[in-house]
Amino acid sequence: MKKVILTLTTILCLSAIVRADEGMWIPALLQRNEAEMQAMGMKITADDIYSINHSSMKDAVVLFGGGCTGEIVSEQGLLLTNHHCGFDWIQKHSTVEHDYLTDGFWAMTMEEELSCPGLTAVMLKNMVDVTEKILFNITDETTDEERARLVKENINKLVTAEQDRSEYMVSVESFYQGNQYFLMYNEVFDDVRMVGAPPSNIGKFGGDTDNWVWPRHTGDFSIFRIYKDNKPYKPDYHFTISLKGVEKGDFTFVFGYPARTNEYLPSVAVNQEANVVYPVVVDLRTQILDIYNKYQEKDAKVRIQYASKHAGLGNGWKKWMGVIEGIRNFKGIEKKQAFEESFYEWCQKERRRMIYSRVLREFDAVYAEYEKYRMATTYLTEAGLSIELIDFASNFTKLADMTKDTPQEEIDELINNLRQATAVFFKDYYQPIDEEVAVTMLTAYRAAQPEDFRPEILNEIDKNFKGNVKSYVDYLFGKSILTSEEKVVAMLDNFKPSKAKKLAKDPAVVAFNSMMDFYIEKVLPKSKEYNNRINNMRRVYMEGQMKMIPEVYPERNLYPDANFTLRVTYGKVGGFKPKDAVTYRHFTTLDGIMQKENPDIYDYVVTDRLRELYEAKEFGRYADKDGSMHVAFIAGNHTTGGNSGSPILNAEGKLLGLNFDRTWEGTMSDLVYDPSICKNISVDIRYVLFLIDKYAGCTRLIDEMTIDE
Ligand code: ARG
Ligand code: GLU
Repeated sequence: MKKVILTLTTILCLSAIVRADEGMWIPALLQRNEAEMQAMGMKITADDIYSINHSSMKDAVVLFGGGCTGEIVSEQGLLLTNHHCGFDWIQKHSTVEHDYLTDGFWAMTMEEELSCPGLTAVMLKNMVDVTEKILFNITDETTDEERARLVKENINKLVTAEQDRSEYMVSVESFYQGNQYFLMYNEVFDDVRMVGAPPSNIGKFGGDTDNWVWPRHTGDFSIFRIYKDNKPYKPDYHFTISLKGVEKGDFTFVFGYPARTNEYLPSVAVNQEANVVYPVVVDLRTQILDIYNKYQEKDAKVRIQYASKHAGLGNGWKKWMGVIEGIRNFKGIEKKQAFEESFYEWCQKERRRMIYSRVLREFDAVYAEYEKYRMATTYLTEAGLSIELIDFASNFTKLADMTKDTPQEEIDELINNLRQATAVFFKDYYQPIDEEVAVTMLTAYRAAQPEDFRPEILNEIDKNFKGNVKSYVDYLFGKSILTSEEKVVAMLDNFKPSKAKKLAKDPAVVAFNSMMDFYIEKVLPKSKEYNNRINNMRRVYMEGQMKMIPEVYPERNLYPDANFTLRVTYGKVGGFKPKDAVTYRHFTTLDGIMQKENPDIYDYVVTDRLRELYEAKEFGRYADKDGSMHVAFIAGNHTTGGNSGSPILNAEGKLLGLNFDRTWEGTMSDLVYDPSICKNISVDIRYVLFLIDKYAGCTRLIDEMTIDE
């Protein structure tokens, strides 16, 4: 017996050593990964990373602003995150006189640190497996509806009871598609102040052009500080910073808040994402971005007006192109299909596994039926509502519904909000772009969606405009008052309920309502139904996979999809081969910034100060031992959106840099992971410190950090 166990452990260990990189691990269960992490080079313990009995690294990692990660690097609550995570706050504090986006911001004293009302940092205090408490009254006979009701009820009961007892924010999170539940205790900090940010041509260097791309040279960091009771927060733990840099093959881990992944989907779903939905979204966005580009190149004002819109559309657009290619080149669908075959085989071995094979077979039919609704939603959001005028009109539907019985305060409040929305809208609105987008998008929308299953307004183009989209768009923009700030303001100034009817007839309001009516009546109910069904099926399929994988693929460690909870992921530093004949080195340097420099292209402007420091080689102790200034590096950590700003740590748990992106070739890692191509991109902490110290001269921040030379 002993011998058998021994061999089994040896096999498990061996396979564990071979397997690497993939996985986003629950910190409370990290003991299970410890051996593998140490075999890969880690010199600390799982307990050093996550413990509820003593201070550990988890006490220095926060969910920043609800969508990114930040890490504490001093005894006084100093917090690092990405520039693109702090971007909104840098922008909010910017004025014409103090343009912190362009020039950067450095609080030279604590008094100068700027408060950011609404910004939070959330820290995990404890997490407890409560699966049994949530699922105790659920049996094999429980129907899906009943199950949903019971789970909700059990969660509410538990959260209410715990919340009474706890000083922290309590919630229950679902893992493995509703097969496991954790009770989470979080401390919420709501006084987070802005401390520093480099100018955008450092913090966003390369802009959208370089976004998702390696080699990368973005100094993507910004600095904040957590305050508690109006004093700098004293954390239980803060990260020590390593100035030693990285070598190829070094062990690293990333500790942060990944948002969403879908690693356990059936092949039919991956196929729908990668080969049906994404190609449409990419195609529509390509057309819109082409129009943006054309006008942005012509006019500096338009460039600024559409910069953020461009970045928003462009980020997903580029990522999904990478997903489509990655799934194809790395045979994501075929790999899933092969897995499904063996899953099916495994199901055949026992009668009670039939429930899993049945679900697996049903996926094909359900996804096929769902596709129609999925595409209707996609066209609505990506084509219909990308027409800014129509999207803007959504703000006015409520006003158009007002009657003489509506209380005056309600109208006043609404009008007040609309005034603000109007100012915000017109500040960044350029009508020629929108008109061209409208013609292009409505044409695509009409071509793709059948007459009997699309918003009525699209059919009216046939009835009233002889099918000529351009004529309709001319009418829409010509007749709507919502294209003119002056007219909108005048309308708001003089609004009376008796005028609501007229507003309701505004062509932009009509267009928006037509799209929404169609969506709410014909798409949403069915979409919800399919989504519920699919979620239930995915839960059952996940349960099957959780039983099958350890038996059939013991080398494959199971981990739950990302769900915005704290995770640890680990992998080694190293470059990769993105395509035939091309090899990427694992790091970039300041030399690359100088090579990319182009004063005429916004994304590649280099400030004089940075050039001077470069030419004088004034890198101080932040230079690599090769003498150069390292800027960014890649490693095999399994990350996703939300991991932005996450600390990337070395074998001793010391801070090496900040995660901020993935390489474009490997973005399919949200659906299918391939270690040969899926790499995370981090900014080197030495570049960050060099900028704070030598570039900005904000040495007081360096002084409060703990630095390991
Ligand atoms: N690709 C990164 C992420 O998904 C960075 C996005 C912000 N940067 C940009 N150039 N748009 O969040
Ligand atoms: N930039 C992403 C973020 O904001 C991280 C990149 C990724 O998706 O891995 O979280």
